[in-house]
Amino acid sequence: MRFLRFVFSLALLLAVAVGVLVYIGWYEVAADKPHAQGVEWFVEQVRDRSIEARARGVQVPKLDDEAMVRDGAGHYSAMCADCHLAPGDSDTSFPDALYPRPPRLTAANDLTPAQQYWVIKHGIKLSAMPAWGATHNDRSIWNIVAFLQRLPALTPEQYRALLPAQGDTTAHQHGALETPVQEPTPGAPNAQSVPAQPDEAVPEAKPDEKPKAKPDEPEQHETRR
Ligand code: HEC
Repeated sequence: MRFLRFVFSLALLLAVAVGVLVYIGWYEVAADKPHAQGVEWFVEQVRDRSIEARARGVQVPKLDDEAMVRDGAGHYSAMCADCHLAPGDSDTSFPDALYPRPPRLTAANDLTPAQQYWVIKHGIKLSAMPAWGATHNDRSIWNIVAFLQRLPALTPEQYRALLPAQGDTTAHQHGALETPVQEPTPGAPNAQSVPAQPDEAVPEAKPDEKPKAKPDEPEQHETRR
């Protein structure tokens, strides 16, 4: 009994100490000061395990289709290359200023296609990685994943050859940009918090909800070269 009381007092003391440290602003949140080693390790475990668990039920379509890769390349250059860089990019000042730093996706990436899809669709909390599922339908996201499988092997010339011709407005019309694929439920912390098979669990949009992004509507971007 005495031992239990001791443990309880210790836990209470610890909680109060943590509360005081938070209150006085002791922890450094500046992006130009890395986390303490233990904190960094912990945050990485949370991120990696969370992505692994949630991507487990995702069904991966065929990804070696040339049209998918081309469409994905256009999206990548417009939406991703500022942070994740393109083949031959030497100016890394923007990604270098972010913390966590976005990995170079021009180098081999150890996420599986299912995990890449999940990350692109849902984003990563407390990082600069956006949730593209808010503005892009699954077809576009899988096209980007198809392109990512090809990206590490591309030379700058091969990369540029995949991009839509400048001024080509038919290649990436952005019909879905303003239409969320899924209406967030008011009050729900995150509609996608089911760990297993999250993407199969998504119900079809009901008639009174905003329509889903049409799968065949192409999306438009300014292409960054
Ligand atoms: C504003 C910057 C930014 C943009 C734009 C951005 N990302 Fe990210 N992305 C990040 C950051 C930062 C991380 C790392 C997050 C972390 O480790 O917690 C990340 C992580 C990722 C990862 C996980 C990589 C890994 O190895 O863990 C993938 C895949 C990814 N992004 C793909 C994309 C794609 C595809 C696009 C465009 C559709 C994109 N990102 C746009 C900042 C960005």
